[in-house]
Amino acid sequence: MVFAQFIFLVIFISQFYDNAECISFFHFTQDPPPVRDIALMSRYIVHHSDWATLSYLGNQSFMDGMPMGRVYSVSDGTINNSSGVPYIMASPMDLSFQDVVKTKNCSLVLSLAQSDYCKKKSYDPEDPRCAQLTLTGKFVKLDKDDPEWNVAKTALWTRHPVMRKWHNLVPGHHWQFAKINIEHITLIDTFGGRKYPTIAEYFKATPTFNYWPKLRHSVITVKKNVIIDEEFIN
Ligand SMILES: *[C@@H]1O[C@H](CO)[C@@H](O)[C@H](O)[C@H]1NC(C)=O
Ligand SMILES: *[C@@H]1O[C@H](CO)[C@@H](O)[C@H](O)[C@H]1NC(C)=O
Ligand SMILES: *[C@@H]1O[C@H](CO)[C@@H](O)[C@H](O)[C@H]1NC(C)=O
Ligand SMILES: *[C@@H]1O[C@H](CO)[C@@H](O)[C@H](O)[C@H]1NC(C)=O
Repeated sequence: MVFAQFIFLVIFISQFYDNAECISFFHFTQDPPPVRDIALMSRYIVHHSDWATLSYLGNQSFMDGMPMGRVYSVSDGTINNSSGVPYIMASPMDLSFQDVVKTKNCSLVLSLAQSDYCKKKSYDPEDPRCAQLTLTGKFVKLDKDDPEWNVAKTALWTRHPVMRKWHNLVPGHHWQFAKINIEHITLIDTFGGRKYPTIAEYFKATPTFNYWPKLRHSVITVKKNVIIDEEFIN
């Protein structure tokens, strides 16, 4: 009995040390584009967001059909390459992932309140000038042989460097990549109500990256339960 408790303790503590905390990601410095350019503004919000809230219909027995949400890390490309397609990495052990793979219809909600922009401008997160975007469409799990699997992997692993360690840090999770097939875009970026950029306008818009004064790289070191993310200038 005492031995069993000892084994339990060893397993429990080792799990604790496997937990990883990422201290910083990349830092964006560019201001948003002018509000009249709604497609470019939408692309700016997507590319500059490290995370977003995925809304979907729950399918767990106790709340089948109820609206649910979960935060995911997102990326639409490497730091200087934006595709406009939001990718996520998730595990099939995650109940939200299980539900949305079945129920499919979903919205991804992103806000500039998630960067330091609104705070710098003293905009409350509900202030329309603190721009927010809702991408509505279908959740699509990517196939391992689909060339887009690697596109998603590069997009996420470069922007969230700790993710490339999740296979080892949290083994047995069978990490997957997925994307949102966007069908509707709803933007609020100033006073006067919602705006609806078309899908064609959204994908035609070309964000520029020449505002980068310097590229920053990240080096990740795992020390016990803390990941030290050191940045240095290229
Ligand atoms: C992005 O930056 C990387 C590293 O500096 C470079 O190799 C790559 O060509 C750049 N891509 C674009 C689209 O500018
Ligand atoms: C930018 O991303 C697209 C996919 O969205 C890819 O086809 C292209 O090769 C990438 N360019 C660079 C320089 O990485
Ligand atoms: C949700 O779960 C129930 C019960 O398992 C199932 O009958 C229903 O079809 C599911 N909904 C969707 C959209 O898959
Ligand atoms: C998903 O949305 C479409 C409209 O785009 C609708 O026809 C369909 O019934 C929805 N599916 C579910 C499971 O609610």
